[in-house]
Amino acid sequence: MSAPSNPATGPYIDPRVTVLPRTVQLTALHTIMRDKETSRNDFIFYSNRLIRLLIEAGLCLLPFEDKAVTTPTGTHFAGKEFSAKLAGVSIMRAGESMEGPLRDVCKMVRIGKILIQRDESSPSKEAKLFYCKLPVDIHERHVILLDPMIATGGSAIKAIEVLRQHGVKEENIIFLNIISCPEGISNVLTACPLVKIVTTWVDDSLNNHKYILPGLGDFGDRYFGTEDDQHGTRERTYSLSSESAFAELMLKEEH
Ligand code: PRP
Ligand code: URA
Repeated sequence: MSAPSNPATGPYIDPRVTVLPRTVQLTALHTIMRDKETSRNDFIFYSNRLIRLLIEAGLCLLPFEDKAVTTPTGTHFAGKEFSAKLAGVSIMRAGESMEGPLRDVCKMVRIGKILIQRDESSPSKEAKLFYCKLPVDIHERHVILLDPMIATGGSAIKAIEVLRQHGVKEENIIFLNIISCPEGISNVLTACPLVKIVTTWVDDSLNNHKYILPGLGDFGDRYFGTEDDQHGTRERTYSLSSESAFAELMLKEEH
């Protein structure tokens, strides 16, 4: 699939990708999220609002069956009812920010977690898998995969690979994302052609550090309050290439 050079100006050309309509409201939410002066408190508050919009749009892609009900006026209403088993799966860390809004909308939804981190010391920002815990019957479920950012697409591809290994059908995966870019979308759909992507915005490109432009910097750092230098230009001071480095990472994140 070849991504359009400027998908911002119209509907995304690939039917597997849903981009939220660019209303003034959506643009205003993005303006707050992307502003480097936005406080952490506001970043969290407005990302919750964006994520709610995203989740409602994503749920429309799930299977529904006809359901007729009778209203208090004694009249029939020809409606719909959700008809499948569902699970949410977050790509940690940043994807965890989307679990609360998903739970607000889908009561008692089962949540799986996959810890994947980009190796910021590798030129391609290779995505590395560290941990995975999924509902035992995940293979029978439709999966709402949660991660706010698609940059190279490496983390999403790795997560989808894990889900496939656990028996999830690729066509049953809906990947919900706040900010994407043409390169990342193209990479995900090439590697995982049956997956559906719902995103609130398709940005222009990636910088030399594989950060999205204009983007919003590092979502996880801004949401969890762990920024260590300029957004989008940081190099992690640790390597993620071994288990001991991972233990070191966990320790650093605890402090
Ligand atoms: C970020 C983001 C995605 C990934 C996107 O996570 O949340 O998971 O990068 O980049 P990619 O498309 O190039 O893989 P990061 O690895 O920085 O970890 P974090 O969630 O702890 O911030
Ligand atoms: N991860 C982020 O949080 N932001 C980017 O722009 C790229 C990866």
